[in-house]
Amino acid sequence: MDHNQNWTRPEPMWRQDTELPTFDSMEENTSADIVVVGGGITGITTAYLLAKAGKQVVLLEADRILNGTTGHTTAKVTAQHGLIYHELIKHFGMDKASLYYQAQMNAFGFIEETIEKYKIDCDWKKEDACLFSTTDKGAEKVANEYEAYQKLDIPGEMTEALPFEMEATRTLVMKNQARFHPIKYLTALVDRFIELGGQIFEGTKATDLKEGETLQVETGNGSIVTCSHAISCSHFPFYDGKGFYFSRMYAERSYLMAIEPEREIPPGMYVSIDEPKRTIRSAEYNGKPILLVGGENHKTGDGIDTSFHYRAIEEFAAQTFGIREKLFQWSAQDLTTLDKVPYIGPITKKNNRVLIATGFRKWGMTNGTLAAQLLSNYVLGEESLFHELFKPSRFKADPSMKQFLSQNFDVAVHLVEGKLELVGDRPDRIKKGEGKVVQWRGERAGAFKDEDGELHLLDTTCTHMGCEVEWNSAEHTWDCPCHGSRFSFDGTVVEGPADQPLMKISLEKPSPRSLMDIKKMYEDQGQQDQP
Ligand code: FES
Repeated sequence: MDHNQNWTRPEPMWRQDTELPTFDSMEENTSADIVVVGGGITGITTAYLLAKAGKQVVLLEADRILNGTTGHTTAKVTAQHGLIYHELIKHFGMDKASLYYQAQMNAFGFIEETIEKYKIDCDWKKEDACLFSTTDKGAEKVANEYEAYQKLDIPGEMTEALPFEMEATRTLVMKNQARFHPIKYLTALVDRFIELGGQIFEGTKATDLKEGETLQVETGNGSIVTCSHAISCSHFPFYDGKGFYFSRMYAERSYLMAIEPEREIPPGMYVSIDEPKRTIRSAEYNGKPILLVGGENHKTGDGIDTSFHYRAIEEFAAQTFGIREKLFQWSAQDLTTLDKVPYIGPITKKNNRVLIATGFRKWGMTNGTLAAQLLSNYVLGEESLFHELFKPSRFKADPSMKQFLSQNFDVAVHLVEGKLELVGDRPDRIKKGEGKVVQWRGERAGAFKDEDGELHLLDTTCTHMGCEVEWNSAEHTWDCPCHGSRFSFDGTVVEGPADQPLMKISLEKPSPRSLMDIKKMYEDQGQQDQP
Protein backbone atom coordinates (compact mmCIF):
# COMPACT_ATOMS: atom_id res chain seq x y z
CA MET A 1 0.00 0.00 0.00
CA ASP A 2 1.28 3.47 -0.77
CA HIS A 3 1.00 5.28 2.55
CA ASN A 4 1.75 8.68 1.06
CA GLN A 5 -1.58 8.39 -0.74
CA ASN A 6 -3.44 7.90 2.56
CA TRP A 7 -1.58 10.47 4.56
CA THR A 8 -3.56 12.57 7.01
CA ARG A 9 -1.86 15.13 9.21
CA PRO A 10 -1.09 13.63 12.64
CA GLU A 11 -2.94 15.53 15.40
CA PRO A 12 -2.47 15.07 19.15
CA MET A 13 -5.61 14.28 21.09
CA TRP A 14 -4.98 16.74 23.92
CA ARG A 15 -5.88 19.89 22.01
CA GLN A 16 -9.08 18.44 20.49
CA ASP A 17 -11.30 18.54 23.57
CA THR A 18 -9.92 21.67 25.25
CA GLU A 19 -10.52 25.36 24.57
CA LEU A 20 -7.26 27.24 24.78
CA PRO A 21 -7.03 31.01 25.15
CA THR A 22 -5.23 32.80 22.32
CA PHE A 23 -2.77 35.70 22.62
CA ASP A 24 -1.56 38.42 20.25
CA SER A 25 1.98 38.65 19.01
CA MET A 26 4.29 41.29 20.48
CA GLU A 27 4.45 44.31 18.20
CA GLU A 28 6.10 46.89 20.47
CA ASN A 29 9.16 46.99 22.68
CA THR A 30 8.43 46.26 26.32
CA SER A 31 10.20 45.54 29.59
CA ALA A 32 9.75 43.04 32.41
CA ASP A 33 11.68 41.53 35.29
CA ILE A 34 11.86 38.18 33.57
CA VAL A 35 11.32 36.89 30.05
CA VAL A 36 10.36 33.23 29.76
CA VAL A 37 10.74 31.70 26.30
CA GLY A 38 8.59 28.66 25.47
CA GLY A 39 4.91 27.96 26.17
CA GLY A 40 5.07 24.34 27.32
CA ILE A 41 4.83 22.88 30.83
CA THR A 42 8.21 24.30 31.90
CA GLY A 43 7.64 27.82 30.58
CA ILE A 44 4.07 28.12 31.86
CA THR A 45 4.85 26.72 35.32
CA THR A 46 7.96 28.91 35.64
CA ALA A 47 6.03 32.01 34.57
CA TYR A 48 3.23 31.18 37.02
CA LEU A 49 5.64 30.64 39.95
CA LEU A 50 7.53 33.87 39.33
CA ALA A 51 4.36 35.92 38.86
CA LYS A 52 3.09 34.43 42.11
CA ALA A 53 6.31 35.64 43.78
CA GLY A 54 5.48 39.19 42.65
CA LYS A 55 7.67 39.39 39.54
CA GLN A 56 6.68 41.01 36.28
CA VAL A 57 6.87 38.23 33.71
CA VAL A 58 6.53 38.15 29.93
CA LEU A 59 6.19 34.73 28.24
CA LEU A 60 7.08 34.47 24.54
CA GLU A 61 5.94 31.57 22.36
CA ALA A 62 7.04 31.21 18.73
CA ASP A 63 3.85 29.37 17.71
CA ARG A 64 0.79 28.71 19.90
CA ILE A 65 1.22 27.80 23.56
CA LEU A 66 1.07 24.09 24.42
CA ASN A 67 1.66 23.04 20.86
CA GLY A 68 5.21 21.67 21.24
CA THR A 69 6.35 18.57 23.11
CA THR A 70 3.94 19.23 26.02
CA GLY A 71 1.04 19.12 23.58
CA HIS A 72 2.31 15.79 22.21
CA THR A 73 3.20 13.98 25.45
CA THR A 74 1.85 10.71 26.90
CA ALA A 75 1.32 12.77 30.10
CA LYS A 76 2.52 10.26 32.65
CA VAL A 77 3.34 11.90 35.96
CA THR A 78 5.88 9.56 37.46
CA ALA A 79 9.39 9.18 38.87
CA GLN A 80 9.76 5.90 36.95
CA HIS A 81 11.75 7.19 34.00
CA GLY A 82 12.50 3.94 32.21
CA LEU A 83 15.77 2.34 33.32
CA ILE A 84 17.58 5.11 35.20
CA TYR A 85 18.29 4.50 38.91
CA HIS A 86 20.76 1.63 38.48
CA GLU A 87 22.71 3.75 36.01
CA LEU A 88 22.55 6.86 38.21
CA ILE A 89 23.93 4.95 41.20
CA LYS A 90 26.74 3.55 39.01
CA HIS A 91 27.78 6.90 37.59
CA PHE A 92 26.86 9.45 40.26
CA GLY A 93 26.61 7.46 43.49
CA MET A 94 23.75 6.78 45.88
CA ASP A 95 23.24 10.34 47.12
CA LYS A 96 22.72 11.86 43.69
CA ALA A 97 20.56 8.97 42.49
CA SER A 98 18.41 9.47 45.58
CA LEU A 99 18.21 13.23 44.93
CA TYR A 100 16.99 12.54 41.38
CA TYR A 101 14.11 10.47 42.77
CA GLN A 102 13.26 13.03 45.48
CA ALA A 103 13.27 15.85 42.92
CA GLN A 104 10.81 13.98 40.70
CA MET A 105 8.51 13.15 43.61
CA ASN A 106 8.61 16.80 44.74
CA ALA A 107 7.44 17.81 41.28
CA PHE A 108 4.74 15.11 41.46
CA GLY A 109 3.60 16.57 44.81
CA PHE A 110 3.55 20.10 43.35
CA ILE A 111 1.27 19.03 40.47
CA GLU A 112 -1.05 17.14 42.82
CA GLU A 113 -1.29 20.05 45.30
CA THR A 114 -1.87 22.58 42.51
CA ILE A 115 -4.71 20.46 41.12
CA GLU A 116 -6.26 20.25 44.59
CA LYS A 117 -5.71 23.93 45.38
CA TYR A 118 -7.40 25.24 42.22
CA LYS A 119 -9.77 22.29 41.85
CA ILE A 120 -8.53 21.67 38.31
CA ASP A 121 -10.62 19.18 36.40
CA CYS A 122 -7.86 17.45 34.42
CA ASP A 123 -8.57 13.69 34.58
CA TRP A 124 -5.93 13.24 37.31
CA LYS A 125 -5.80 9.56 38.21
CA LYS A 126 -3.39 7.69 40.47
CA GLU A 127 -2.05 4.56 38.76
CA ASP A 128 0.96 2.28 39.11
CA ALA A 129 3.80 2.76 36.64
CA CYS A 130 5.23 -0.49 35.22
CA LEU A 131 8.43 -1.17 33.40
CA PHE A 132 8.52 -4.51 31.61
CA SER A 133 10.97 -6.65 29.66
CA THR A 134 10.21 -9.21 26.97
CA THR A 135 13.66 -10.83 26.68
CA ASP A 136 16.01 -12.56 29.15
CA LYS A 137 18.58 -9.80 28.72
CA GLY A 138 15.88 -7.22 29.45
CA ALA A 139 14.83 -9.22 32.54
CA GLU A 140 18.36 -8.85 33.91
CA LYS A 141 18.21 -5.09 33.47
CA VAL A 142 14.83 -4.93 35.22
CA ALA A 143 16.28 -6.95 38.11
CA ASN A 144 19.18 -4.46 38.41
CA GLU A 145 16.74 -1.59 38.41
CA TYR A 146 14.72 -3.27 41.17
CA GLU A 147 17.90 -3.67 43.23
CA ALA A 148 18.48 0.08 42.78
CA TYR A 149 14.90 0.79 44.00
CA GLN A 150 15.61 -1.24 47.13
CA LYS A 151 18.88 0.59 47.80
CA LEU A 152 17.20 3.96 47.35
CA ASP A 153 14.06 3.05 49.31
CA ILE A 154 11.85 3.56 46.28
CA PRO A 155 8.55 1.75 46.84
CA GLY A 156 8.37 -0.91 44.12
CA GLU A 157 7.73 -4.55 43.49
CA MET A 158 8.64 -7.07 40.83
CA THR A 159 6.18 -9.37 39.08
CA GLU A 160 6.08 -11.30 35.82
CA ALA A 161 2.57 -11.12 34.49
CA LEU A 162 1.00 -8.25 32.54
CA PRO A 163 -2.77 -7.67 32.63
CA PHE A 164 -3.01 -7.79 28.82
CA GLU A 165 -2.07 -10.23 26.07
CA MET A 166 1.68 -9.87 26.09
CA GLU A 167 4.40 -12.08 27.53
CA ALA A 168 6.72 -10.26 29.90
CA THR A 169 9.90 -11.75 31.34
CA ARG A 170 9.81 -9.26 34.24
CA THR A 171 7.73 -6.29 35.36
CA LEU A 172 8.83 -3.63 37.83
CA VAL A 173 6.02 -1.68 39.45
CA MET A 174 6.35 1.80 41.00
CA LYS A 175 3.24 2.31 43.09
CA ASN A 176 0.91 5.31 43.18
CA GLN A 177 2.08 7.35 40.22
CA ALA A 178 -0.41 9.27 38.08
CA ARG A 179 -1.60 10.35 34.65
CA PHE A 180 -3.63 13.42 33.65
CA HIS A 181 -4.76 15.67 30.80
CA PRO A 182 -1.80 18.06 30.43
CA ILE A 183 -3.61 20.78 28.50
CA LYS A 184 -6.52 21.00 30.96
CA TYR A 185 -4.02 21.28 33.83
CA LEU A 186 -1.85 23.88 32.13
CA THR A 187 -4.76 25.97 30.85
CA ALA A 188 -5.68 26.50 34.51
CA LEU A 189 -2.10 27.66 35.24
CA VAL A 190 -2.23 30.02 32.24
CA ASP A 191 -5.43 31.55 33.68
CA ARG A 192 -3.77 32.04 37.09
CA PHE A 193 -0.69 33.58 35.45
CA ILE A 194 -2.82 36.11 33.55
CA GLU A 195 -4.80 36.93 36.75
CA LEU A 196 -1.46 37.64 38.45
CA GLY A 197 -0.64 40.25 35.78
CA GLY A 198 1.55 38.06 33.54
CA GLN A 199 1.69 38.66 29.80
CA ILE A 200 1.80 36.04 27.04
CA PHE A 201 2.69 36.74 23.41
CA GLU A 202 2.11 34.01 20.83
CA GLY A 203 3.57 34.00 17.32
CA THR A 204 6.61 35.75 18.79
CA LYS A 205 9.87 33.93 18.30
CA ALA A 206 12.81 34.91 20.50
CA THR A 207 15.74 35.00 18.10
CA ASP A 208 18.68 36.44 20.00
CA LEU A 209 19.82 38.05 23.21
CA LYS A 210 22.09 41.02 23.84
CA GLU A 211 23.85 41.19 27.18
CA GLY A 212 24.68 44.54 28.76
CA GLU A 213 23.65 46.19 31.99
CA THR A 214 20.25 44.68 31.27
CA LEU A 215 19.34 41.86 28.91
CA GLN A 216 17.57 42.50 25.63
CA VAL A 217 15.64 39.61 24.12
CA GLU A 218 15.16 40.18 20.39
CA THR A 219 12.21 38.70 18.54
CA GLY A 220 11.51 37.77 14.94
CA ASN A 221 8.86 40.53 14.80
CA GLY A 222 11.55 43.15 15.41
CA SER A 223 10.38 44.01 18.93
CA ILE A 224 12.61 43.76 22.00
CA VAL A 225 11.97 42.91 25.65
CA THR A 226 14.37 44.42 28.18
CA CYS A 227 14.71 42.35 31.36
CA SER A 228 17.03 41.31 34.17
CA HIS A 229 16.68 37.53 33.64
CA ALA A 230 15.93 35.50 30.52
CA ILE A 231 14.84 31.87 30.82
CA SER A 232 14.83 29.48 27.89
CA CYS A 233 12.25 26.71 28.28
CA SER A 234 12.37 25.52 24.70
CA HIS A 235 14.11 22.38 23.44
CA PHE A 236 17.40 23.88 22.27
CA PRO A 237 17.98 27.23 23.99
CA PHE A 238 17.09 30.12 21.63
CA TYR A 239 20.45 31.63 22.64
CA ASP A 240 23.37 29.23 23.00
CA GLY A 241 25.66 31.64 24.89
CA LYS A 242 28.68 29.37 24.17
CA GLY A 243 27.02 26.52 26.07
CA PHE A 244 27.31 24.30 22.92
CA TYR A 245 24.04 22.58 23.70
CA PHE A 246 23.69 21.24 20.16
CA SER A 247 26.73 19.01 20.78
CA ARG A 248 25.55 17.87 24.20
CA MET A 249 22.12 16.42 23.40
CA TYR A 250 20.54 14.19 20.78
CA ALA A 251 16.98 14.17 19.48
CA GLU A 252 14.64 11.20 19.29
CA ARG A 253 11.18 10.83 17.82
CA SER A 254 8.42 8.58 19.13
CA TYR A 255 4.84 7.83 18.07
CA LEU A 256 1.49 7.60 19.81
CA MET A 257 -1.99 6.46 18.85
CA ALA A 258 -5.31 6.94 20.69
CA ILE A 259 -7.72 4.03 20.19
CA GLU A 260 -10.98 2.71 21.50
CA PRO A 261 -9.97 -0.90 22.14
CA GLU A 262 -12.13 -3.99 21.72
CA ARG A 263 -10.66 -5.66 24.79
CA GLU A 264 -10.66 -4.45 28.39
CA ILE A 265 -8.46 -1.46 29.25
CA PRO A 266 -5.73 -2.58 31.68
CA PRO A 267 -5.16 -0.54 34.85
CA GLY A 268 -1.70 1.09 35.10
CA MET A 269 0.86 2.74 32.80
CA TYR A 270 3.37 0.58 30.94
CA VAL A 271 6.72 1.09 29.27
CA SER A 272 8.75 -1.71 27.68
CA ILE A 273 12.52 -1.67 27.80
CA ASP A 274 13.29 -4.06 24.91
CA GLU A 275 13.05 -3.20 21.23
CA PRO A 276 10.71 -2.24 19.72
CA LYS A 277 9.79 0.12 22.56
CA ARG A 278 6.14 0.23 23.62
CA THR A 279 4.19 2.57 25.89
CA ILE A 280 0.60 2.00 27.03
CA ARG A 281 -1.76 3.97 29.27
CA SER A 282 -5.46 4.61 29.65
CA ALA A 283 -7.05 8.05 29.13
CA GLU A 284 -10.45 9.65 28.65
CA TYR A 285 -11.74 11.26 25.51
CA ASN A 286 -15.13 13.01 25.58
CA GLY A 287 -15.87 11.17 28.82
CA LYS A 288 -15.15 7.77 27.23
CA PRO A 289 -12.31 5.49 28.45
CA ILE A 290 -9.72 4.96 25.73
CA LEU A 291 -6.17 3.67 25.38
CA LEU A 292 -2.96 5.40 24.28
CA VAL A 293 -0.49 3.01 22.63
CA GLY A 294 2.88 4.13 21.34
CA GLY A 295 6.63 3.74 21.13
CA GLU A 296 8.87 3.05 18.10
CA ASN A 297 11.51 5.51 19.35
CA HIS A 298 14.31 6.34 16.92
CA LYS A 299 16.88 9.07 16.40
CA THR A 300 15.49 12.01 14.45
CA GLY A 301 16.26 11.95 10.71
CA ASP A 302 17.48 8.35 10.58
CA GLY A 303 16.21 8.12 7.02
CA ILE A 304 13.74 5.26 7.60
CA ASP A 305 10.22 5.65 6.17
CA THR A 306 8.56 7.20 9.24
CA SER A 307 5.02 6.14 8.34
CA PHE A 308 6.31 2.60 9.01
CA HIS A 309 6.31 3.46 12.74
CA TYR A 310 2.60 4.32 12.80
CA ARG A 311 1.83 1.08 10.99
CA ALA A 312 3.91 -0.90 13.51
CA ILE A 313 2.03 0.65 16.45
CA GLU A 314 -1.32 0.03 14.82
CA GLU A 315 -0.44 -3.62 14.23
CA PHE A 316 0.71 -3.99 17.84
CA ALA A 317 -2.44 -2.30 19.19
CA ALA A 318 -4.70 -4.46 17.00
CA GLN A 319 -2.97 -7.65 18.10
CA THR A 320 -2.82 -6.81 21.81
CA PHE A 321 -6.05 -4.91 22.46
CA GLY A 322 -8.13 -5.04 19.27
CA ILE A 323 -9.09 -1.70 17.68
CA ARG A 324 -12.76 -0.71 17.67
CA GLU A 325 -11.92 2.83 16.54
CA LYS A 326 -8.70 4.64 15.77
CA LEU A 327 -9.09 8.18 17.09
CA PHE A 328 -5.81 10.09 16.74
CA GLN A 329 -2.17 9.56 16.02
CA TRP A 330 0.74 11.88 16.60
CA SER A 331 4.47 11.96 17.25
CA ALA A 332 6.81 13.84 19.56
CA GLN A 333 10.42 14.89 19.65
CA ASP A 334 12.50 14.69 22.82
CA LEU A 335 16.07 15.55 23.71
CA THR A 336 18.43 13.47 25.82
CA THR A 337 21.52 14.88 27.52
CA LEU A 338 24.91 13.18 27.68
CA ASP A 339 24.27 11.67 31.13
CA LYS A 340 20.43 11.40 30.87
CA VAL A 341 19.94 14.04 33.62
CA PRO A 342 18.25 17.25 32.36
CA TYR A 343 20.13 20.55 32.10
CA ILE A 344 18.44 23.04 34.44
CA GLY A 345 20.11 26.25 35.58
CA PRO A 346 22.54 28.96 34.40
CA ILE A 347 23.40 28.62 30.70
CA THR A 348 27.14 28.66 31.49
CA LYS A 349 29.08 28.67 34.75
CA LYS A 350 29.57 32.45 34.71
CA ASN A 351 26.21 33.60 33.42
CA ASN A 352 23.44 33.40 35.99
CA ARG A 353 21.18 35.94 34.29
CA VAL A 354 20.37 33.55 31.44
CA LEU A 355 18.86 30.24 32.56
CA ILE A 356 17.81 27.18 30.64
CA ALA A 357 15.88 23.93 31.07
CA THR A 358 16.07 21.13 28.51
CA GLY A 359 16.90 17.46 27.89
CA PHE A 360 13.94 15.84 29.66
CA ARG A 361 14.31 12.51 27.81
CA LYS A 362 10.54 11.99 27.34
CA TRP A 363 9.77 12.56 31.02
CA GLY A 364 8.68 16.17 30.70
CA MET A 365 5.76 16.25 33.11
CA THR A 366 7.80 15.85 36.30
CA ASN A 367 11.08 17.14 34.82
CA GLY A 368 9.35 20.24 33.40
CA THR A 369 7.67 20.99 36.72
CA LEU A 370 10.89 20.36 38.64
CA ALA A 371 12.70 22.69 36.21
CA ALA A 372 10.15 25.43 36.90
CA GLN A 373 10.72 25.05 40.65
CA LEU A 374 14.51 25.18 40.29
CA LEU A 375 14.50 28.07 37.81
CA SER A 376 12.29 30.18 40.02
CA ASN A 377 14.59 29.36 42.99
CA TYR A 378 17.54 30.68 40.98
CA VAL A 379 15.79 33.93 40.04
CA LEU A 380 14.50 34.50 43.58
CA GLY A 381 17.93 33.78 45.10
CA GLU A 382 16.70 30.70 46.98
CA GLU A 383 19.00 27.74 47.71
CA SER A 384 17.94 24.30 46.56
CA LEU A 385 19.36 20.93 47.35
CA PHE A 386 18.71 19.90 43.73
CA HIS A 387 20.56 22.70 41.92
CA GLU A 388 23.93 20.97 41.80
CA LEU A 389 22.69 17.70 40.27
CA PHE A 390 20.87 19.39 37.37
CA LYS A 391 23.35 22.25 36.71
CA PRO A 392 24.09 22.41 32.95
CA SER A 393 27.79 23.12 33.57
CA ARG A 394 28.36 19.74 35.25
CA PHE A 395 30.52 17.50 33.15
CA LYS A 396 31.38 14.05 34.42
CA ALA A 397 33.96 12.15 32.42
CA ASP A 398 31.93 8.97 32.52
CA PRO A 399 29.37 8.61 30.97
CA SER A 400 29.34 12.16 29.58
CA MET A 401 32.61 11.97 27.67
CA LYS A 402 31.73 8.60 26.10
CA GLN A 403 28.34 9.94 24.99
CA PHE A 404 29.87 13.22 23.84
CA LEU A 405 32.35 11.42 21.61
CA SER A 406 29.80 8.97 20.25
CA GLN A 407 27.20 11.68 19.62
CA ASN A 408 29.63 13.99 17.85
CA PHE A 409 31.20 11.11 15.93
CA ASP A 410 27.69 10.32 14.64
CA VAL A 411 27.32 13.95 13.61
CA ALA A 412 30.63 13.86 11.74
CA VAL A 413 29.60 10.64 9.97
CA HIS A 414 26.26 12.14 8.89
CA LEU A 415 28.01 15.28 7.74
CA VAL A 416 30.43 13.40 5.50
CA GLU A 417 28.11 10.58 4.37
CA GLY A 418 25.35 12.99 3.44
CA LYS A 419 27.67 14.92 1.16
CA LEU A 420 28.88 11.80 -0.61
CA GLU A 421 25.44 10.31 -1.13
CA LEU A 422 24.36 10.89 -4.68
CA VAL A 423 21.57 8.36 -4.89
CA GLY A 424 18.09 9.65 -5.53
CA ASP A 425 15.29 9.76 -7.99
CA ARG A 426 14.57 12.43 -10.56
CA PRO A 427 12.21 15.20 -9.37
CA ASP A 428 9.82 14.61 -12.29
CA ARG A 429 9.16 11.06 -11.03
CA ILE A 430 7.75 12.25 -7.68
CA LYS A 431 4.05 11.58 -7.13
CA LYS A 432 1.55 13.96 -5.50
CA GLY A 433 1.90 13.96 -1.70
CA GLU A 434 5.33 12.35 -1.93
CA GLY A 435 8.68 13.64 -0.67
CA LYS A 436 12.10 12.24 -1.61
CA VAL A 437 15.78 12.94 -1.84
CA VAL A 438 16.48 13.50 -5.53
CA GLN A 439 19.37 14.39 -7.79
CA TRP A 440 19.13 17.86 -9.24
CA ARG A 441 21.85 19.00 -11.60
CA GLY A 442 24.28 16.50 -10.07
CA GLU A 443 23.60 17.50 -6.48
CA ARG A 444 21.51 16.11 -3.65
CA ALA A 445 18.20 17.96 -3.25
CA GLY A 446 14.92 17.47 -1.41
CA ALA A 447 11.70 17.34 -3.44
CA PHE A 448 8.08 17.33 -2.34
CA LYS A 449 5.06 17.47 -4.65
CA ASP A 450 1.94 18.92 -3.02
CA GLU A 451 -1.66 17.93 -3.77
CA ASP A 452 -1.91 20.64 -6.47
CA GLY A 453 1.07 19.11 -8.23
CA GLU A 454 3.46 21.93 -7.32
CA LEU A 455 7.03 20.71 -6.83
CA HIS A 456 8.95 22.16 -3.86
CA LEU A 457 12.69 21.71 -4.33
CA LEU A 458 15.09 22.45 -1.48
CA ASP A 459 18.76 22.34 -0.72
CA THR A 460 18.95 19.51 1.85
CA THR A 461 21.88 21.12 3.68
CA CYS A 462 20.70 21.79 7.24
CA THR A 463 21.16 25.48 8.01
CA HIS A 464 22.37 24.69 11.52
CA MET A 465 25.73 23.06 10.80
CA GLY A 466 25.48 21.58 7.35
CA CYS A 467 24.35 17.95 7.80
CA GLU A 468 21.94 16.52 5.22
CA VAL A 469 18.25 16.41 6.16
CA GLU A 470 16.07 13.34 5.45
CA TRP A 471 12.39 13.17 4.48
CA ASN A 472 9.92 12.30 7.24
CA SER A 473 7.01 10.77 5.34
CA ALA A 474 4.67 10.61 8.35
CA GLU A 475 4.87 14.30 9.30
CA HIS A 476 5.85 15.71 5.89
CA THR A 477 8.96 17.39 7.25
CA TRP A 478 12.68 17.37 6.50
CA ASP A 479 14.50 16.14 9.64
CA CYS A 480 18.18 16.52 10.46
CA PRO A 481 19.96 13.48 11.94
CA CYS A 482 22.69 15.56 13.60
CA HIS A 483 20.91 17.67 16.22
CA GLY A 484 17.25 17.15 15.39
CA SER A 485 16.32 20.34 13.50
CA ARG A 486 13.13 19.93 11.47
CA PHE A 487 11.83 21.89 8.48
CA SER A 488 8.46 21.89 6.74
CA PHE A 489 8.13 20.77 3.10
CA ASP A 490 8.73 24.38 1.99
CA GLY A 491 11.84 24.73 4.15
CA THR A 492 10.39 26.73 7.09
CA VAL A 493 11.91 25.89 10.49
CA VAL A 494 9.59 23.65 12.54
CA GLU A 495 12.05 22.81 15.29
CA GLY A 496 15.56 24.09 16.19
CA PRO A 497 18.44 24.39 16.83
CA ALA A 498 18.45 25.66 13.21
CA ASP A 499 16.92 29.12 13.02
CA GLN A 500 17.12 29.70 9.26
CA PRO A 501 14.94 27.98 6.63
CA LEU A 502 16.31 25.47 4.13
CA MET A 503 17.35 27.15 0.94
CA LYS A 504 14.80 26.89 -1.87
CA ILE A 505 16.12 25.73 -5.22
CA SER A 506 14.73 27.42 -8.25
CA LEU A 507 13.88 24.94 -11.00
CA GLU A 508 15.42 27.37 -13.48
CA LYS A 509 18.74 28.21 -11.81
CA PRO A 510 21.54 25.88 -10.65
CA SER A 511 21.84 25.17 -6.93
CA PRO A 512 23.95 27.81 -5.16
CA ARG A 513 25.40 25.30 -2.71
CA SER A 514 29.05 24.44 -2.82
CA LEU A 515 31.22 22.37 -0.52
CA MET A 516 33.13 25.53 0.35
CA ASP A 517 29.92 27.09 1.72
CA ILE A 518 29.32 24.02 3.88
CA LYS A 519 32.89 23.99 5.15
CA LYS A 520 32.63 27.67 6.05
CA MET A 521 29.28 27.19 7.82
CA TYR A 522 30.78 24.38 9.88
CA GLU A 523 33.86 26.40 10.83
CA ASP A 524 31.77 29.46 11.73
CA GLN A 525 29.81 27.44 14.25
CA GLY A 526 33.00 26.69 16.22
CA GLN A 527 32.55 22.92 16.07
CA GLN A 528 36.10 22.40 17.33
CA ASP A 529 35.24 23.82 20.78
CA GLN A 530 34.40 21.55 23.68
CA PRO A 531 31.57 22.26 26.10
FE1 FES B 1 22.64 20.55 13.59
FE2 FES B 1 21.19 19.95 11.45
S1 FES B 1 20.51 20.24 13.45
S2 FES B 1 23.31 20.20 11.59
